[in-house]
Amino acid sequence: MSETTHTQSAAAQAMKMVEGYSVEHTGPGTPAGRYLRRFWQPVYHCADLKVGRPVPLKIMNEDFTLYRDENGVAHLTEARCPHRGTLLTSAWVEGEALRCFYHGWKFGPDGKCIEQPAEESSFIQRISLRMWPVREYLGLVFAYLGEGAPPAFPLYPPFERFNGLVEVDSYLRECNYYQNVENSLDMSHVGFVHADNKASFTGIGLGKALTAQESDWGVTYVFQRPDGRRRIQQFGMPNVFYMTALPTEPDIGWQESLFWWVPIDDERHMQFSLHRVPIQGEAAERFKERREKKRTTIDLAHQDVCKEILGGMMRLQDVDRDRVDLVRLQDDIAQVGQGIFASRNPEKLGRADIGLAMIRRIVKREIANLVEGRALKDWQRTQTIVPQVWALDSDGEKALATTEGEAVAEIIDIRPHVEVKIQMKGLHGALSAAK
Ligand code: FES
Ligand SMILES: [Fe+2]
Repeated sequence: MSETTHTQSAAAQAMKMVEGYSVEHTGPGTPAGRYLRRFWQPVYHCADLKVGRPVPLKIMNEDFTLYRDENGVAHLTEARCPHRGTLLTSAWVEGEALRCFYHGWKFGPDGKCIEQPAEESSFIQRISLRMWPVREYLGLVFAYLGEGAPPAFPLYPPFERFNGLVEVDSYLRECNYYQNVENSLDMSHVGFVHADNKASFTGIGLGKALTAQESDWGVTYVFQRPDGRRRIQQFGMPNVFYMTALPTEPDIGWQESLFWWVPIDDERHMQFSLHRVPIQGEAAERFKERREKKRTTIDLAHQDVCKEILGGMMRLQDVDRDRVDLVRLQDDIAQVGQGIFASRNPEKLGRADIGLAMIRRIVKREIANLVEGRALKDWQRTQTIVPQVWALDSDGEKALATTEGEAVAEIIDIRPHVEVKIQMKGLHGALSAAK
């Protein structure tokens, strides 16, 4: 990806702070917002997008309409009708077109206005909706929200074909997305925040055992145990993480996972999460049943429980662990506890913070290059950029990103129903729709 010279806008100037451009603000025209929009981003779940039921969508402080046409194809367009501005969420889907609820203007899948029932002039030719490129992949709807032609769509072949399941396990968190980005390369939190997990142990993120190096894709982050075994995590610019997640099920060890942190607005974000679970046959069926049951058993929103705990109304020890997603809650407490926007001025970074310090440096460098018209690094995930971790039950290091089998992996949605509701409310930007 290269970048032509840009005129530095007044807004961008204003965003430039002593230590560089803001990474937290991602609305249209902001430095970080412009940078994030240069990459394909997941914006919704395929399972939640029903044929003929357009939804309002808020991503990076910008409002859109997302709909699935009668052929099953997803389209992303403007929030409001260009005629008199009613929300297109109420529009009818007719074939692959969208007809506005108010005066019936009809728009084709390329955005062109093709009918204006009350008009008889040629001005229809000048009317169109802006459309953004959309692609469905691994259970997620991805969109390219930037200017010009989209970059090549990034694929993750190890998640596509293997004998097993791909779990969709996303969540919404009520703080700025960048806190979660930085938490990715913060291994020293694991032994404390998730101390009850069997894979967690004292010293997991010992500063002197950590290294962080810029890679072709982002940052390679390595923790080396005293016995020489390593856990390798891969951060992808600007907001992707390819990692080994803590085990959460008795039969499953480390999970190979892909995460994207996507702002809804500056104060809330989604983590779109996929886990690769190599399990088949009857074991897979039993696993699916357990997961399905858990979607209902977990009936407390971790976002609400977090508020109770941070507000001093209850303690983590007193939470019914079957009724809440514990790992989410633990990370909520730490990250939302930093404030909706973590103040980075009084920070005292130590050796164990080298991962997040490295991300911060690279992100700020690239954003500054974008705004000031210099060339940008063309980030590519090469085949060697994969996570690795020690085996839990045997000796030796095990590369996880292997593809056994040629079957197309089954995608299963394991989000608790209470979580799906909260995500829809957040992503639909329900309150801002009335503005
Ligand atoms: S507002 Fe959409 S057709 Fe009039
Ligand atoms: Fe965590």
